[in-house]
Amino acid sequence: MSEALSIIFASSEVDGFSKSGGLADVARALPLHLKSLCHDVRIVTPFYRLIPEKHKTSTIIPSLGVPMGSEEIWCTVRHKDLEGNVDGKTISVPVYFIEHKHHFFRHGYYGDGSQAYPDNASRFGFFSKAVLQICRALDWTPDIFHSNDWHTALVPFYLKQTQLENADFIKSRSVLTIHNAGYQGGAPGIFRHSLGIPLENFVLEMFEDYGHLNLLKGGINFADQVNTVSPGYAEELRTPLGSHGLHETYLRKGKNFSGILNGCDYDEWNPETDPHLPANFSAKDLAGKKECKQELQRLYGLPESSSIPIIGMVSRLTMQKGFDHLIPAMRGILRMDVQVVVLGSGEPWIANAFDQLQKEFSDKLGWYNGYNNELAHLIEAGSDMFLMPSLYEPCGLNQMYSLRYGTLPIVRRVGGLKDTVLQYDESTGKGNGFIFNDPTSASVNNTVSWAVNTFYERPEHFRKMVKAAMKQRFTWKTAAKKYVALYQKSLN
Ligand code: ADP
Ligand code: GLC
Repeated sequence: MSEALSIIFASSEVDGFSKSGGLADVARALPLHLKSLCHDVRIVTPFYRLIPEKHKTSTIIPSLGVPMGSEEIWCTVRHKDLEGNVDGKTISVPVYFIEHKHHFFRHGYYGDGSQAYPDNASRFGFFSKAVLQICRALDWTPDIFHSNDWHTALVPFYLKQTQLENADFIKSRSVLTIHNAGYQGGAPGIFRHSLGIPLENFVLEMFEDYGHLNLLKGGINFADQVNTVSPGYAEELRTPLGSHGLHETYLRKGKNFSGILNGCDYDEWNPETDPHLPANFSAKDLAGKKECKQELQRLYGLPESSSIPIIGMVSRLTMQKGFDHLIPAMRGILRMDVQVVVLGSGEPWIANAFDQLQKEFSDKLGWYNGYNNELAHLIEAGSDMFLMPSLYEPCGLNQMYSLRYGTLPIVRRVGGLKDTVLQYDESTGKGNGFIFNDPTSASVNNTVSWAVNTFYERPEHFRKMVKAAMKQRFTWKTAAKKYVALYQKSLN
């Protein structure tokens, strides 16, 4: 066993307290697994408006001063343990919540539903600085400051700044994990004053991007190690086409930029024990999956039949997830002999398109506009196939859940999807999903049609793939060990 490390893990979402997507799942599972490997890991996250309604927290630092530019902002730090199961054992990880009403007691985490909050850079810059201040107040020097995405991308910069200015945390190192490089935390250059970014750092090799501040870019430049959440996406980020404009920044990072595939939380997503399902099932006994399918059809008001294939989708409704090419393909798909069930929340134009489609195909399309964890579990369990036509996908967790539930993914060959799904081979029946290359309506349509035909015409192959899918594992233990190796690399 390697030496125990101390890690402060900063994330804008943590499942159990706040969640809009997969970042929250990772911010829960990875710390739990690091703790189960005996590392001293503690999470820091904002204290959002709804958290106190559901959680009893205690004050750990009544008044924490956070210097921001020429100002000092005061906040309170609260504490509660995050509890979870790892290999059947209960593990708990301390969570420190930053309470600042003006910044975090808002309707949304990042925006009001249609638009991002204009002061996001200040909100999350303050949060990032508070991460260091908490460690000071607790007189705790972590080996690793681990930040995630643009929201906490200023942590590596503030760490370097304090190391240079007063030799604080001199032996600590920073790791930045990128879950979604499409969101970069852009802000007008004027924000640099309140964020305490000196003019000499507002240059192309650091924070400057077309005259604006780019917090993610700065984070990449200042972090000791940077990784993203799959090797496939890491490869894409090094190319002009796949990098969301920052390929030169990734390339400059050389060997200090890598890809570590996320794990899947098999304690939470396990069809054999899932408490959200009307019946459980396993690869050996799939009877419960039929019951889940029936319940799904009942809930969505679709004709109840086990012989018609259901294609499921659970997704943030945003361009990243491929709706630009999926929506025009939907009528063609709904004319096939299938049912489609969709759960999603996000951009109104996508929700409106599904409203309209549901009116036209009410006996074929089940559509739920909103966020619903229990329904997400039922869709994974009760569907036969799961559609992720993403434009880009840093890792993707839903396809991992689908595989575990014997629901064959239909995915585009991008990012983490290409690292986790194996193409169906018609000559042998091997594989566990259906993959297409081009981000076009024709490609989605053809591939869905291929999957549906396989369901009807090659049931023996379909069954074989379901069994193979359910055996596939992407464990957090493997991923957590890779993170420990990355931490050690940064310390050497
Ligand atoms: P992303 O983080 O890009 O949204 P992932 O596949 O990594 O994509 O993770 C998405 C996570 O969010 C999964 O746990 C998924 O079940 C959940 N999720 C997304 N949208 C919804 C929704 N509308 N209701 C319930 N869960 C959702
Ligand atoms: C992001 C990505 C998704 C990834 C998740 C967790 O939201 O869009 O692909 O699985 O983060 O890392």
